[in-house]
Amino acid sequence: MELSNRLKRIPPYLFVELDRLKNEKLKEGADVIDLGIGDPDIPTPQEIVEVAKRALEKAEYHRYPANPGSLFYRKACANYMQRRFGVSFNPEDEVVALIGSKEGIAHFPLAFVNPGDVVLCPDPAYPVYHLGTLLTDGEPYYMSLLWEKGFLPDFSAIPEEVFRKTKILWLNYPNNPTGATADKEFYKEAVRLAKKYNFIIASDAAYVELYYEEPPLSIFEIEGAKEVAIEFHSLSKTFCMTGWRIGFAVGKRELVQALAKAKSNIDSGVFTAIQEAGAYALNNLESLVPPLREIFKERRDYFAQALEELGYELKKPSATFYLWVKVPKGYTTSEFCKRVLQELAIVITPGNGFGSAGEGYFRIALTVEINRLKEAKERLASLKL
Ligand SMILES: Cc1ncc(COP(=O)(O)O)c(C=O)c1O
Repeated sequence: MELSNRLKRIPPYLFVELDRLKNEKLKEGADVIDLGIGDPDIPTPQEIVEVAKRALEKAEYHRYPANPGSLFYRKACANYMQRRFGVSFNPEDEVVALIGSKEGIAHFPLAFVNPGDVVLCPDPAYPVYHLGTLLTDGEPYYMSLLWEKGFLPDFSAIPEEVFRKTKILWLNYPNNPTGATADKEFYKEAVRLAKKYNFIIASDAAYVELYYEEPPLSIFEIEGAKEVAIEFHSLSKTFCMTGWRIGFAVGKRELVQALAKAKSNIDSGVFTAIQEAGAYALNNLESLVPPLREIFKERRDYFAQALEELGYELKKPSATFYLWVKVPKGYTTSEFCKRVLQELAIVITPGNGFGSAGEGYFRIALTVEINRLKEAKERLASLKL
């Protein structure tokens, strides 16, 4: 059976070869250190688990959930946005629950993108911005995130005729894979352009709570952002809850409602017991998250320094649990990553898997314990470059 044209546009999965090599290593019985996965190794805080256990017993939760999310959950989301960023959202119609932010990011273009519309996507990036665009027959326009520009897109390099056809601008700070953050001036320029050319800013804030220095911004801390933006939040990384599948979107009413409408025709919401655990997590973020941040900070400090000592070039990130590191001279990205896997049994992610501008880099996910990072350093030290 022939695939749809839409599915045919989805590029092949770039990590096939690396996955095969990793499985081979595992079969050989090698002690593989996996620094590839952006999935915290730390369990969800027990307090959250206990809330979920009790919620499971509530028979009323065994029925279909309220589609945009229960009001108690949306209130917890709005409350968090108020406490953390000082911005107000009406939980009734400016917040929608998501089955993880990936789900919302993938479905959002359905609400606004017509065939041929341009969607500005960062490169390198979490792939769902451009894949969601391809699935709605939109046209991704790739904005390179370069070392020299602090991994922020250079808006002045985007032609005027592209801006005129633009429906959505995707931004993601703190950024996966580069670990970069954005400042107020950058967001102000994005909001100015969105108003000038009448496009939507879709901001992915999945890592906004995983910081080690200054708390990163929400786009809604910029004046006028609420007229043009929607922001996607995730409980996955903040509370080590990737398996629970819960997040939310907030923003301009019309944008949130359009996403809610698209979603209501596709999914049936988030299990209410999980929303109860999610609301508890958000309401108690200030006590639950600092110990988790400390663990990742220790890993970041250790491994960023270790890599520098070994002669690797990177910018120590102030947020996220990723290190974005230059591939040593004389190697292509895929040659280097394969060699590290074959000779050292360490999985690292080739930067070009996140887009062509990621060539020349590899990503480390700090999702293993510090003693494994120490072992990884020793192995890397033995590599003759
Ligand atoms: C930048 C970014 N956004 C969104 C997500 C999706 O997270 P979730 O669907 O678990 O909320 C991820 C997951 O890795 C990510 O890296």
